[in-house]
Amino acid sequence: MSSSIFSAVPYIPPDPIFELTKQYNANPSLLKVNLGQGTYKDENGEPWILPAVRAAKEKIRTANHEYLPILGLTSFRSRATELLFGQDSDVIKDGRVASCQALSGTGALHTAGKILYRAAQAARNTIPTVYITNPSWSNHRQVFESIGFPVQEFEYTTADNSGLNMGCLTQTLTQAPAHSIFVFHASAHNPSGWDPTAEQWKAIGEIVKAKGLFPIFDAAYLGMTSGDFDTDAFAIRYFVHELGVESAVCLSFAKSLGLYGERIGLCAFATSSSTIATAVQSTLAQLIRVEISNPPAFGARVVAAVLEDEDLRAEWAQNLVTMSERIKAMRWALYEGLVELGTPGNWKRITEQKGMFCILGLRLEEVLHLREKYHIYMADSSRVSIAGLNAGNVRYVAECIDRTVREFRSR
Ligand SMILES: Cc1ncc(COP(=O)(O)O)c(C=O)c1O
Repeated sequence: MSSSIFSAVPYIPPDPIFELTKQYNANPSLLKVNLGQGTYKDENGEPWILPAVRAAKEKIRTANHEYLPILGLTSFRSRATELLFGQDSDVIKDGRVASCQALSGTGALHTAGKILYRAAQAARNTIPTVYITNPSWSNHRQVFESIGFPVQEFEYTTADNSGLNMGCLTQTLTQAPAHSIFVFHASAHNPSGWDPTAEQWKAIGEIVKAKGLFPIFDAAYLGMTSGDFDTDAFAIRYFVHELGVESAVCLSFAKSLGLYGERIGLCAFATSSSTIATAVQSTLAQLIRVEISNPPAFGARVVAAVLEDEDLRAEWAQNLVTMSERIKAMRWALYEGLVELGTPGNWKRITEQKGMFCILGLRLEEVLHLREKYHIYMADSSRVSIAGLNAGNVRYVAECIDRTVREFRSR
């Protein structure tokens, strides 16, 4: 056989989280619990179609199937931008926002990275480092490395994962060269569940501004964290409105509207002038044209239909409360279960952390044991998606963790 032109292509192992879901789906056990993938499930363990989304789909059912504009559905872009920065914000009124519809949060990060790469190349012909937290969402490093950025991690949590490592964060920001890019989780840090307080965000913002750094806000959980979108958008708005820092925001509607498969998000740059915004937006248009020509319509129409209608917007606000409250209740249920069983370990952080995830602090062999013996699937790092818990399985999960911890720690 002639040698293949692909002979030097390496085998890349499958993504661990998607692999875990595959294993979970293939497991016939009735006891199985999926705490791996970060998708919200209702109290019956089923995917939840938000009532606001159900109603929005009804409203758009006669929509045609024509191409969207290159930058995306215009009503989606306007409404999502207003949602993000606030309707009456100066950055919108002054025409300083450049935006495009994106393929969910991941697509928005990719697009933001591509634009920043081009911007750095054109301005200085040097490529800045992208700083990401350690730990972070498993895709961050490869998204930015694939564009060509050097990526550097900094310790985000204390060594025992008992909280944010503000000292290291401050030091990293202070020592980073001007124009360095920092990927911040706007709310509900994945996976640690530790977010800076408002005061800490202010301190972070001051350094970012003073040092001429560039923030990318990964905004995958706005509204899901506290149950209120505006509250969760605090850091973004503080940087943009109060500090006047140029920023990128990569907004996903996967979690907040339950539109995981629709791949709908927004990539927005808050810039310092309308002239710059116009240039950035023209570059976005050219980038989208070469990469996907124009984005998919369905998810954008759903989001626009929700945001355009006062009643649906109010319904969505309620749906966000439902999701965030259920997650908080499950945090407490797991914590109380472990405490009641007297499970060795410090579990208080389960209730202190924010958002969909927490890291339990289990050893790899314990994680594997839970998977093999009890059909409970969590990431190797013992990161669990709290949204996979419900009244029907939380006691079982607590008991299995209890048995596993006792078994392994008595060895
Ligand atoms: C921190 C973070 N950023 C971005 C994403 C991207 O999600 P999507 O591309 O589905 O919007 C996720 C998804 O889990 C995430 O946890």
